[in-house]
Amino acid sequence: MLLLLLATTSNAHNITKILAKFPEYSTFNHYLTTTHLAPEINTRQTITVLAVDNAAMNSLIAKHLPISSLKNVLSLHVLLDYFGAKKLHQITDGTALAATMFQATGSAPGTSGFVNITDLKGGKVGFAATKDADDSGSLSLDATFVKSVKEIPYNISIIQISHVLSNPDAMAPAPAPEATNITDIMSAHGCKAFADTLKTFPDALDVFTSNAEGGLTVFCPTDDAFKSFLPKFKNLTKEEKSSLLLFHGVPIYYSMAMLRSSNGMMNTLATDGKKKFDFEVQNEGQSVTLKTKIVTAKVTGTLIDEEPVAIYTVDKVLKPKEIFKKAEISPAPAPAPEAEAPQSSKHHHKSPPAPPSDDSADSPADSPADSPESDDTADDSSEGGERVKKGFWMIVVSVVMVSMLV
Ligand SMILES: *[C@@H]1O[C@H](CO)[C@@H](O)[C@H](O)[C@H]1NC(C)=O
Ligand SMILES: *[C@@H]1O[C@H](CO)[C@@H](O)[C@H](O)[C@H]1NC(C)=O
Ligand SMILES: *[C@@H]1O[C@H](CO)[C@@H](O)[C@H](O)[C@H]1NC(C)=O
Ligand SMILES: *[C@@H]1O[C@H](CO)[C@@H](O)[C@H](O)[C@H]1NC(C)=O
Ligand SMILES: *[C@@H]1O[C@H](CO)[C@@H](O)[C@H](O)[C@H]1NC(C)=O
Repeated sequence: MLLLLLATTSNAHNITKILAKFPEYSTFNHYLTTTHLAPEINTRQTITVLAVDNAAMNSLIAKHLPISSLKNVLSLHVLLDYFGAKKLHQITDGTALAATMFQATGSAPGTSGFVNITDLKGGKVGFAATKDADDSGSLSLDATFVKSVKEIPYNISIIQISHVLSNPDAMAPAPAPEATNITDIMSAHGCKAFADTLKTFPDALDVFTSNAEGGLTVFCPTDDAFKSFLPKFKNLTKEEKSSLLLFHGVPIYYSMAMLRSSNGMMNTLATDGKKKFDFEVQNEGQSVTLKTKIVTAKVTGTLIDEEPVAIYTVDKVLKPKEIFKKAEISPAPAPAPEAEAPQSSKHHHKSPPAPPSDDSADSPADSPADSPESDDTADDSSEGGERVKKGFWMIVVSVVMVSMLV
């Protein structure tokens, strides 16, 4: 079991490193990195990469495609199956369709996004990207197998083909990134409470939307998580509310694969000089968790992951220690909130007339909502403990394995 754990956390291959040994593919390799396909390739097993040399890449670059289209075109070159040179020349019935990463991303309409591999006369193997069924017709299989570059059966095979594969769907410019309406996407996919709240803070929303052009990752709490947190949210000052919302955004685009391969502290949109407002990203196998000193949240889903914007759901509201330290680190939180609630409504006198009655109406609801929350917090720390233990064992196993290898 420990070995299994180790296998799932270590990358079997690093496409960037493998291709770095072959300067004739340096352009292809460069664009695998800039389109963020490299980490996606590294986290997959049983995969085939159809590399093209620099001359073939230059004809693609000359088209000046936006980066999102370039990513689509290159993802047609990643087959989700293992094809070594031998298998290519021995395809059953002489022709096969291979699923690609383009098709797996869901950007490909209909039957578009497969690669047709056909054994041709004279021992040649031809490749073509399929088109959508509507504009079918015979494919020109003019990209042909050149040579095998690197084969690690059955994890990754890298073969060179003569031409870039493409089809109209991959080339089509993706909807302009600035058209990504982050609140609409969140509202439509289970983060409505968070999105609605964000809309009531136009300054915070502006920070999100202005970052959406250059790179933005949002971790939106699901409706269940955010609704149960609302009583506590109402109790915060206006500035704290804004910071808490901003705390759920990161000013850099992180694809899921990038998140899975990055451990460590991450600054947020709320980070401001000394006020760190950061959290820790931790990976275990395929699951990604975000930890503050107060809470550990799990990334539970992807709403959108298209450079420059990624939006993921998290199962808990991220509570920055800068806001919640005093309130929640105390060991016996249960009696405190009710006693202090009236005091907080005094702090609130600046907000519109509603709050006083709002607060008093909320106070009774607060306590029930509170107790499960504080239970959650207790669960988190024990989970954290287990993670530390597992991490320890993984290190022990790695050390043992390394010494066995040596
Ligand atoms: C293939 O991947 C598995 C799982 O990551 C790994 O354990 C194995 O060592 C890899 N095989 C080779 C030949 O690298
Ligand atoms: C893969 O290799 C490249 C180049 O050697 C290196 O910069 C990168 O950090 C590696 N990626 C991983 C996930 O190890
Ligand atoms: C691949 O394309 C060729 C040429 O258009 C066609 O004859 C063949 O049936 C296709 N193969 C598959 C599996 O669709
Ligand atoms: C997002 O869509 C909503 C309505 O669906 C609209 O009110 C809002 O202005 C849009 N935001 C942006 C940044 O376009
Ligand atoms: C409301 O805020 C006060 C002080 O800011 C805090 O002591 C109290 O626990 C809070 N109540 C809730 C329900 O979070």
